[in-house]
Amino acid sequence: MKKPKLVVANWKMNLSVHQASLLVNKLDKKVQPHRSVEVVLAPSYLCLQPLSHEIDRRKFRLAAQDGYPIDGGAYTGAISFNQLRDLVHYAIIGHSERRRYFNEGLELVRDKMASAVRNNILPILCVGETWEERNLKETKIVLHDQVITALSNLTSEDMQDMVIAYEPVWAIGGHDPAKPEDIARAVEWIRYQVKDLYGQKAADNVRILYGGSDEPEFVSSIMEVDGIDGLLVGHASLDSQQFADIIEGVYLSALGRGEG
Ligand code: PGA
Repeated sequence: MKKPKLVVANWKMNLSVHQASLLVNKLDKKVQPHRSVEVVLAPSYLCLQPLSHEIDRRKFRLAAQDGYPIDGGAYTGAISFNQLRDLVHYAIIGHSERRRYFNEGLELVRDKMASAVRNNILPILCVGETWEERNLKETKIVLHDQVITALSNLTSEDMQDMVIAYEPVWAIGGHDPAKPEDIARAVEWIRYQVKDLYGQKAADNVRILYGGSDEPEFVSSIMEVDGIDGLLVGHASLDSQQFADIIEGVYLSALGRGEG
């Protein structure tokens, strides 16, 4: 059976607990549950516990935006995947803002992936090239290194529910997503890396999302790209109407493909 499309709201370092709760309330009124679309909210750590009591679980699941790979101990300020287990379904791992502002390298991302999986949290691995890398025609090598390293301490069984988000860094936070042909090329390449490591079944199973300037008007053209299984949405997910429109757009595109 075809897996549902996946739409993830990455709220980043925005919203107080109160504001997050108001947003969930508004979303709840605007979003209809669809079997063909899974909606995931990734608020800040602070909001996870309260929102876990507030969300309608037929409509929403929770994700952490990060996690620390060591289960527990003297690591001031960190929150481990072990502490997040039972609270979240998913965790975003290797987001370009983590790689850039917090100096997260390939090996740390790899260890986070393994730790999340070990703690029964499904990773949403983010990969993507910077503007400079794109201009130097290094996109393929960057994606290769990011995907291969991140997945290298997992098993083919762990790949069952794997999610990878292609997020070209240059498209994040703007109003101009990557062109469908660029997305198609990257998605095909990412799937090929997964196949190379873990075989055809794993490559077929992995859901690949696109992130970077996802706004309602772009949804249908992005979702038409071959091999795209959903969206990782940043700024537009902070607006209940825009995010609800994006979810509806993903639902309609699945319906159009006979997957509704
Ligand atoms: P954006 O962010 O939708 O604001 O471009 C996407 C992301 O960083 O995940």
